[in-house]
Amino acid sequence: MAESMPDSRSGDPGSKASIWRRVPAGAPEQTLAKIIIVTGTPGVGKTIIGKLLARKTGSTFLSLGDIVRRNRLHKGFDRRSGSYIINGRAVEKKLQKYFEDHREKGMVFETHFVSSIIHKTPGVVAVVLRLDPVVLARRLGARNWPKRKIWENVEAEIIDLSLYDAFKVLGKARVYEIDATGKRPGNIVREVLNVLSRKEGWSSKSNWLEKYDPILLSKRIL
Ligand SMILES: Nc1ncnc2c1ncn2[C@@H]1O[C@H](COP(=O)(O)OP(=O)(O)O)[C@@H](O)[C@H]1O
Ligand SMILES: [Mg+2]
Repeated sequence: MAESMPDSRSGDPGSKASIWRRVPAGAPEQTLAKIIIVTGTPGVGKTIIGKLLARKTGSTFLSLGDIVRRNRLHKGFDRRSGSYIINGRAVEKKLQKYFEDHREKGMVFETHFVSSIIHKTPGVVAVVLRLDPVVLARRLGARNWPKRKIWENVEAEIIDLSLYDAFKVLGKARVYEIDATGKRPGNIVREVLNVLSRKEGWSSKSNWLEKYDPILLSKRIL
């Protein structure tokens, strides 16, 4: 099973060169994971940051939506959530293929969820973007989303849903949390490159429950 595949970071000799790549000038170290998953609640900035990160690292940017549309991996449309229902098994298989094909060039993959489509694979790390729930609510409001849908996503952000989703699949050593609140995209990408090159794994960056009372927040939003 993929879960028990050898990990080059713990010394699997043959595959090391294909898993790490050179970091652009200015970054503190010279190697970086080849496959970087950018995840987080809708609206946190995954597309903007993911594309910029791909440009900076000379890798290919792809989103879950791109893969689903390009390969017709959906099973219909869910009117309630206003989104396509994806075929998880088919997406997982296709993604593995994309990851394999991009082992040399590298790939930044944007997805708002990790479990059921990604499994623990050598050379795969996840960056979880976090955003202050009030800023997030404002951004989603600007997309004209219904209040209920805004609240569902704010709630997910408050309870660290994306972070735990990534932990569950990849473990804390391959997950990097970045608080994007009040930062320019260029600075966020610099921070991402920095933490990835240090390879120290997760350290806590946000605690929205310390900052906000969910009941009061829901009254502001709903
Ligand atoms: N660091 C940032 N500062 C200001 N606005 C941002 C930042 N990151 C994203 N945005 C804006 O927030 C909105 C959502 O960004 P997007 O990248 O589409 O998020 P996601 O892909 O996570 O849904 C966009 O309008 C984008 O321009
Ligand atoms: Mg996006």
